[in-house]
Amino acid sequence: TDNKKIVIAIDGHSSCGKSTVAKQLAKQLGYIYLDSGAMYRAVTLFALRHQLAGNGKVNEQALIARLDEITIEFRLNETTGENETFLNGANVEEEIRQLPVASHVSPVATIREVREAMVQQQQAMGKNKGIVMDGRDIGTVVFPDAELKIFMTASPEVRAQRRYDELKAKGQTMSFEDILKNVEDRDRIDSGRKESPLKQADDALILDNSYLNREEQLEWALTKAKERMEVG
Ligand code: DC
Repeated sequence: TDNKKIVIAIDGHSSCGKSTVAKQLAKQLGYIYLDSGAMYRAVTLFALRHQLAGNGKVNEQALIARLDEITIEFRLNETTGENETFLNGANVEEEIRQLPVASHVSPVATIREVREAMVQQQQAMGKNKGIVMDGRDIGTVVFPDAELKIFMTASPEVRAQRRYDELKAKGQTMSFEDILKNVEDRDRIDSGRKESPLKQADDALILDNSYLNREEQLEWALTKAKERMEVG
């Protein structure tokens, strides 16, 4: 069969499994997977390293002035088969997942100039299609013409429970109540910000995974993707 290459945009709340579905979907289709959140995290790491951010605050003007010093790339790790994030030539995949970055990325992601620079790169990476990109504004801003848009969500309680289980497995202890509050706070920031807030595109399909396991989610997404890939 003759399939056409499409763009798949996956947006949604924090911690509802977007990247898991996006990665598996890309693998099954032989598509590129791009984690747009990693780019905002890499910019945040740059800001922290150059004292342009700290103590929960970001020096917006200073960061904007140095945006042209930031080069972000994704390189394939041959062993794991997964892409890793590089900041100015160095692998930062581990570091961008740590707490200092996590606790400063929201204010960095609200800066219009930062978003414009990231969106431009994201559009360039998707220009040949055959890509699955996840984030908050992919179906609304980055690829408004994406052939398939998925909006993922799960109840705050379900997401908090997953996060709680993950942390517990790593030996960390944090109360369920604190985690739930953090999930709800991040929802509020992502959805309430002025620049490209998280919102469902009119033509997005909703995937509420509160009661679906990984296999069920993937199967659902694959079916939708194949429908859109049919040349017709
Ligand atoms: O998906 P994530 O947790 O890695 O995202 C990190 C941060 O970046 C989060 O605060 C939301 C923001 N983000 C964004 O504003 N736009 C995107 N396309 C992706 C992430």
